Amino acid sequence: MSNTPETYTVAIAGLGKRGTHHAEAFSRNPRFQLVGLCDIDQERLDAAAQEFGVSYTNADAAQMLADTRPDIFAFCTLPNIRLELIRAGAEAGVQLIAYEKPMATSTNEALEIMKLLRDAGIKSVVSHQHRYGEHYQKVKEIIASGAIGRVHTVYGHATGWMLHMMTHLINYTRWYNDETEAEWVVGQAAGKEKFEDVHPSPDYIAGLIQFENGVRGIVECGEGAPDVPEVDYWWRKCRIGAQGTEGFAEVLTGGGWRAITRDSNGVISGPGGMSYAHDMPPYVQQMADWLDDDAQVHPCNGESAFKSFQIMMAICRSAVQRGKVFLPLGPGEPELEALKNALP
Ligand SMILES: NC(=O)c1ccc[n+]([C@@H]2O[C@H](COP(=O)([O-])OP(=O)(O)OC[C@H]3O[C@@H](n4cnc5c(N)ncnc54)[C@H](O)[C@@H]3O)[C@@H](O)[C@H]2O)c1
Repeated sequence: MSNTPETYTVAIAGLGKRGTHHAEAFSRNPRFQLVGLCDIDQERLDAAAQEFGVSYTNADAAQMLADTRPDIFAFCTLPNIRLELIRAGAEAGVQLIAYEKPMATSTNEALEIMKLLRDAGIKSVVSHQHRYGEHYQKVKEIIASGAIGRVHTVYGHATGWMLHMMTHLINYTRWYNDETEAEWVVGQAAGKEKFEDVHPSPDYIAGLIQFENGVRGIVECGEGAPDVPEVDYWWRKCRIGAQGTEGFAEVLTGGGWRAITRDSNGVISGPGGMSYAHDMPPYVQQMADWLDDDAQVHPCNGESAFKSFQIMMAICRSAVQRGKVFLPLGPGEPELEALKNALP
C-alpha cells in the first residue's frame, strides 16, 4: 500500500519574474495545490493571488508558512535573501524547499543553509533548470555515449555576470563530467562596477577547475568572457560543453547544440533554446517524484547545487588569496566583500 499523497501543498514567496514561473508551473500540475502566496509588494501579491486563484496571502513569509503549513516552500527572492527564508521553512516543518540560484552569497551562508536543511531532513532543490532543455539533454547524451572519446575538458562561459550565471555554468559542466568531485581551483577576476548590482559580482571572473577524474574545467563570466554571436540576448549567450579525444559537443543556451563526433563526418547540430515554458513543468514534476520516492532524487538537488556554489566561491577565494584553493570549503572571510576589497 502506498502512502503517497495525491497532492502536495505549496506556498510561494517572491512573486516577481521567477516566482510567477513557479506559480504557473505548480498551478498547472494536479500533483500540487497552491495554498499561500507572499510578496512584500502588495500590488504584485494581489495580482498573483487573483491570477492563480489563491485565497491566502501575506507579506510575511514566516507568517504564511506558520498559517498554511505547506509540504513545499518555494521562494524566488533576489540573492540577498536566502538564509532567513530557509530558516523559516525549517521552523514550519516543510518537506521540500525549492529556491533560486545562487543558493547563497557566501560560503558561510551556504554552510548554514546546508546545516539547517540536513539537520531537519528537508529536501532542497535549486533552480538550475536549464538542463531540461532538449539541446542541453542532447549534449549530455552525446558525451555519455562515448562518441567524443575520452573527455578531457569541460567548459562554460557567459557574458552575464557571476552571481547571475556562474552556478548555472558550473552545474552543467559538472553534469557533463558525471558530477565528479572537484579537487581544487584557481581563479582570477577584474572590475568592480557590478558589485553595485542586485547580483553583486566582479565585472569579469575566470576559473580553472581540477576534477578528481583529471578532467579540466574552464569557466568564465561577465564582461570579457567570449561572446556567443549566434545568440542575441545576454543571458542566453552561454556556451557549455565538453571536448574529448575524438570530438566535442556543446550547447548554446539560446541557440541549439553542435558537435563533432568520431563518426559524424563534420559538424552536426540541432535545435533548442532555453524556455521557461519548456523547463518548468518537469522541474516541478520531479519535486513530486522525489517526495513520493526518496530514490528519485531531483536532478537539481541542493547537495549538487552546494557543490557548484563552492566551486564558484573557491574561484573567488583564489582571486583574493592567489594560488590553488582546495575543496570542500570551510567557513572563511565572506568572498564577495573580500574580492571587492582586493580588486584594484
Ligand atoms: N533559474 C533561472 O533561470 C533564473 C532566471 C532569472 C532569475 N533567476 C533568479 O531568481 C531570483 C529572483 O529573480 P527575479 O528576476 O524573479 O526577481 P524579481 O525582482 O522579479 O522578484 C523578486 C520578488 O521578491 C519579492 N521580495 C523581496 N523580498 C521579499 C521578502 N522578504 N518576502 C517576500 N517577497 C520578497 C520582491 O518584491 C519581488 O517581487 C534571483 O536570485 C535570480 O538570480 C533565476
